[in-house]
Amino acid sequence: MKKLLQTLETELADHRKRGTLKDQERVIVKNIGPRHGFGPRVLLKDQGKTPFLCMNSNSYLGLAHHPDLLSAAEQAAHTYGVGPGGVRFISGTTNPHIELEEELARFHSRPAAMIFNSAYAAVLGVLAPMISPETVVISDELNHNSIINGLRLSKPAAKKIYRHLNMAELEALIAMSVGQASRILVVSDGIFSMRGDHAPLAEIPALALRYDDAFDDGILTIIDDSHGVGVFGATGRGTEEYSGAQADLLIGTLGKGFGVNGGYVTGAETIIRYLRQTAPCYIYSNPITPAEAAAATRSVQLADSAEGKERLANLRFLSKRLEQGLMDLEYQIISSDHPIVPIVTGDTKTNREMSEFLFSNHILVTPLSYPVVPLGEDEIRLQVSAAHTPRDIDFLLAVMAEFASKSP
Ligand SMILES: Cc1ncc(COP(=O)(O)O)c(C=O)c1O
Repeated sequence: MKKLLQTLETELADHRKRGTLKDQERVIVKNIGPRHGFGPRVLLKDQGKTPFLCMNSNSYLGLAHHPDLLSAAEQAAHTYGVGPGGVRFISGTTNPHIELEEELARFHSRPAAMIFNSAYAAVLGVLAPMISPETVVISDELNHNSIINGLRLSKPAAKKIYRHLNMAELEALIAMSVGQASRILVVSDGIFSMRGDHAPLAEIPALALRYDDAFDDGILTIIDDSHGVGVFGATGRGTEEYSGAQADLLIGTLGKGFGVNGGYVTGAETIIRYLRQTAPCYIYSNPITPAEAAAATRSVQLADSAEGKERLANLRFLSKRLEQGLMDLEYQIISSDHPIVPIVTGDTKTNREMSEFLFSNHILVTPLSYPVVPLGEDEIRLQVSAAHTPRDIDFLLAVMAEFASKSP
């Protein structure tokens, strides 16, 4: 072990030197509910009684503490126990798992759905079985790490990458693959998590249809819309709803907008039946707990309720208020209809100074630098939640105004 530990320490020191070491994880010790017109706050280990505003949570709808979800989880835990006790095909399938899969298929207007213990596992679990040795995979250059690693686990005839959102390049890569593959798989994030922009979903399935006949198995489109589901589009159906088009397979998470935990894929019944027999992360790994499944079902149902619609409307209103306020302060942002609001600093030092300034004002944000984002595209990622209030956004904007006034 001695030599190995030394090698690992050297690698960690290299990371530190390059500035790519992640910050120490902050430990939340308590959640504080909304008060005085402000939204929820968290207390952090070693930060005393100072409440922090979370502008870096994926829980866009603010549902993690929703009483209906808590009681659904509690009831399921009492009925089925706190753990599934096995993988799905042994003894790990309970009623809440089945109900959730049915609810997800209904929500996304698909014949079938299956859940995984995370969206990361769903991506790994779906890509490898869908990629035969005669498949050419075509992928957006900014796709999430789960897609990159999912492709590493598979053995396609070729992998081709198109520049971010560049549909002309995607079309050229499909056209060049005619005669080289029996199947084409086009894979993309729906919402891109570092930018809040989205795949041109109105165009990808149309392109796939145009070239479908040129390949024996046709063209399969897969969209991982983990940051879109529950959050984006008129009723939270994600990038598909926003764009008015469907991919063949849609992957989503239950751990962001829906406020719980776990991942899923939804699509044709035959593919879902095939994946239950072939996806290793599904077959050989426990599912989410019955409590998580029951809470997630309730969360998906909430999306279609008056309350769900109100939360979405509030989320949009607050996101636009933040965007506008930052633009008025002349910050460079990436504007979108999604609650991810990135402030592009373009420089690691400014990024660090800004995030430290925000932290000293009790605001948590995510500073992103190379290699998480391309070189020179450093950004502070802000994420709005429906649980925030206009006073939270105005407080954040006041702090950003102060930072701007201090900067040269
Ligand atoms: C596009 C995308 N896919 C998958 C994931 C992973 O989600 P989960 O936490 O459910 O594994 C993320 C989360 O960052 C993501 O942004």
